[in-house]
Amino acid sequence: MNHLLITGGVGFIGANFARYVYESHPKVQIVVLDKLTYAGNRANLTDILGGRVKLVVGDICDAPLVDRLVSKADAIVHFAAESHNDKALVNPWPFIQTNIVGTYTLIQAATKQHKRFHHVSTDEVYGDLPLSEYGSGDEGKFTPTSPYQPSSPYSASKASSDMLVRAWTRSFGLQATISNCSNNYGPYQHIEKFIPRQITNILSGRRPKLYGSGNNVRDWIHTNDHSAAIWDILTKGRIVETYLIGANGEMSNKAVLEMILQLMGQPQDAYDVVRDRPGHDLRYAIDASKLRTELGWRPQYTNFEAGLQDTIEWYTSHRSWWETSKAQVEQTYARHNQ
Ligand code: NAD
Ligand code: TYD
Repeated sequence: MNHLLITGGVGFIGANFARYVYESHPKVQIVVLDKLTYAGNRANLTDILGGRVKLVVGDICDAPLVDRLVSKADAIVHFAAESHNDKALVNPWPFIQTNIVGTYTLIQAATKQHKRFHHVSTDEVYGDLPLSEYGSGDEGKFTPTSPYQPSSPYSASKASSDMLVRAWTRSFGLQATISNCSNNYGPYQHIEKFIPRQITNILSGRRPKLYGSGNNVRDWIHTNDHSAAIWDILTKGRIVETYLIGANGEMSNKAVLEMILQLMGQPQDAYDVVRDRPGHDLRYAIDASKLRTELGWRPQYTNFEAGLQDTIEWYTSHRSWWETSKAQVEQTYARHNQ
């Protein structure tokens, strides 16, 4: 595993993973393939680019480019995707193209060249869980055998990509693993997403925006814990297996927002309730016992409030990273009354 090809490596989770590997595995050479869409930001890696980390700007749907880069890699870790549900509801086409055709292009190359492939996916492929079971223990959480029931254009495109990877392992012997992770938080996350949107709203004098009742539950995990889990799966995971990644971080959106407000010294009710997301998934929750028992993975960021405080500090001290795109992101939301 000395030469890694990381797709989507200047996006939120891909960049955190590239930084994690760079820091904890000094022998590994990294090539990042990223199209630099609105969600990709070269600044996420600038301080480590050169030497052991190279960035190739290109599209995962470009088969000749993908073939060339795959030929130089020992393994491919595939993060590149269109990742935002609200965008997929407005224009699903890029999700079909990148998430499905892009994954197809990569697995064709990995299969032909007998390369190890790790597919990074989401728990959203399993649809949602009822809110009534929130807080009832492990029962009702997603497991690796949960049925695929995606309910949004984004999750349907990711489910499709998972299915392609599974089919290629069986039909063509692709040496692959899949991981389905819950909602990530941490530094470098695009400000269109829930937590950084609210933090940067407060930092820029805007009011946070909560969709609908705010009762929807997400299972939060720090992105560094996700990175460590992917490394464990890549290096110790069983081929063809699916691992679920989660850190028992269930919280309602309202509770998360109230924690952000409190940590940032704002009144608890200083937010606007806005139009709910159509088809809004109610609850996600992960049972990660397979990852824990088979691979010995444990989350390190078990104090959500402390992780959130660090994240608030990161956005506070990296204003230039987000400030230039803030007005435009909010204008786009405002067009949809969100
Ligand atoms: P992101 O939107 O922050 O980053 C995606 C990256 O992919 C960007 O750098 C973008 O430029 C790049 N990209 C997009 N289309 C491309 C293409 N056609 N060719 C090459 N590069 C392209 O996304 P993220 O939140 O970092 O998510 C990364 C992966 O993790 C995705 O596959 C997502 O489904 C999965 N995931 C995300 C979460 C989460 O909470 N954000 C949770 C579980 C799984
Ligand atoms: P998001 O970060 O978009 O992730 P996902 O759709 O993958 O779960 O949203 C997280 C939750 O926060 C989701 O239930 C929608 C909600 N949400 C808000 O309440 N307000 C917002 O401004 C945003 C962006 C999301």
